Amino acid sequence: MRLISVKSLTVFGKNNGTLIEAVSNSSTTFHNGTFCTSSLEKIHNNSSRVPYIKLSCGNVQMPIVGLGTWKAQRDEVQNAINVALEKGYRHFDTAFNYNNEEDIGDVLKKWFDSGKGKREDLFITTKLPNCGNRPKDVERFLKMSLDRLKLSYVDLYLIHMPFSFFCNESNFTPLTNEDGTFCLDVNNDLIGTWKVMEQQVKNGLTRAIGLSNFNAEQVQRVYDSAEIKPTVLQVEMHAYLQQKELRELCKKLNIAVTAYSPLGSPGANTHFSTKYNYSLADFPDILGHPTVKELAEKYKKSAGQVLLRHLIQQDVIVIPKSANPDRIKSNIDLFDFELSADDVEKLNALDKGEQGRIFDFLFFKGVTKHPEYPFKGREEEK
Ligand SMILES: NC(=O)c1ccc[n+]([C@@H]2O[C@H](COP(=O)([O-])OP(=O)(O)OC[C@H]3O[C@@H](n4cnc5c(N)ncnc54)[C@H](OP(=O)(O)O)[C@@H]3O)[C@@H](O)[C@H]2O)c1
Repeated sequence: MRLISVKSLTVFGKNNGTLIEAVSNSSTTFHNGTFCTSSLEKIHNNSSRVPYIKLSCGNVQMPIVGLGTWKAQRDEVQNAINVALEKGYRHFDTAFNYNNEEDIGDVLKKWFDSGKGKREDLFITTKLPNCGNRPKDVERFLKMSLDRLKLSYVDLYLIHMPFSFFCNESNFTPLTNEDGTFCLDVNNDLIGTWKVMEQQVKNGLTRAIGLSNFNAEQVQRVYDSAEIKPTVLQVEMHAYLQQKELRELCKKLNIAVTAYSPLGSPGANTHFSTKYNYSLADFPDILGHPTVKELAEKYKKSAGQVLLRHLIQQDVIVIPKSANPDRIKSNIDLFDFELSADDVEKLNALDKGEQGRIFDFLFFKGVTKHPEYPFKGREEEK
């Protein structure tokens, strides 16, 4: 496939039945004999309405919409994935910590066995848990995830969080001290861990590697030390937390950005208070914001579709979670309308900066004492 080099985000070129939209324009490099281009592109395959973001290394394409699966277990996640596959999702996001990789693996195996689709049609992301941020632990956690998912490789493996805990080896839950604080492993070595992440690409256990919940300094530090660069940063992102500076950095470094909790994670507060006895003082209702509702009415779409479209129009990958068939369908039904520039500005104006953050991880009691806690000053702000 020939790459089209263009400077504008809005210029499309047609090539062998594939529409290509170049997101940035920079030089082509080679790495370890693998073809790498340092531009991110949005590719519209004719067979699918969902555009792909072509990642910066290894010729890997990532659908711009995926299904999130946090908190979804057994029947709930299995039904959701079956519905999602029917509705055209080809990208699924999970993590070792979600305890649902096994459930997801069962559904995927049935789907492959039925002949409805092939492994290479799917994009599967999973994550190294924060009790595994050590060079010696990366491979064994990735292999456990692959075992549970019944896959021989994942498409993307992320370091879930930059900080790390000591864990109970029998069930991999974090150890806590008598006062309820988490047992911090303050010696975790992100650069050493990244080196072993790179090895997983070379060994063929993952096609791409990336980071999650890292701040700008941490992303830059890993990037500068990396032989295989991070290709994706997955962070909380929605209308109240738009992270423009972090997005700018990622654009400069050719790292694709995935927005987690793109709808503002309704339901997260109940989870935080049930599991950790922790709640945010003002849990946001982004879906219910008057501007979002007004735009939903204007475009004859749901509030969720407006929030998701706002992100994908800025080349941000979204992974909304739903277990409801109608919402699963509507959350990928985003490609028959476009928000006007004025309406994008109206949504941009909802940004609350750090005040909009939901996932500050303060539910992990004592986490701010970890040297790699990414949101410095957070405790004092609240
Ligand atoms: N890397 C990380 O640390 C991290 C952290 C958090 C999340 N994530 C990933 O990102 C995914 C998405 O984030 P999230 O689950 O926190 O939040 P989210 O996708 O913003 O919101 C999910 C919630 O919204 C509801 N919902 C879904 N679609 C809706 C719609 N169109 N209208 C109204 N409500 C809707 C869902 O309920 P129903 O199921 O009833 O529809 C669910 O309660 C996660 O599932 C996970 O895969 C990653």
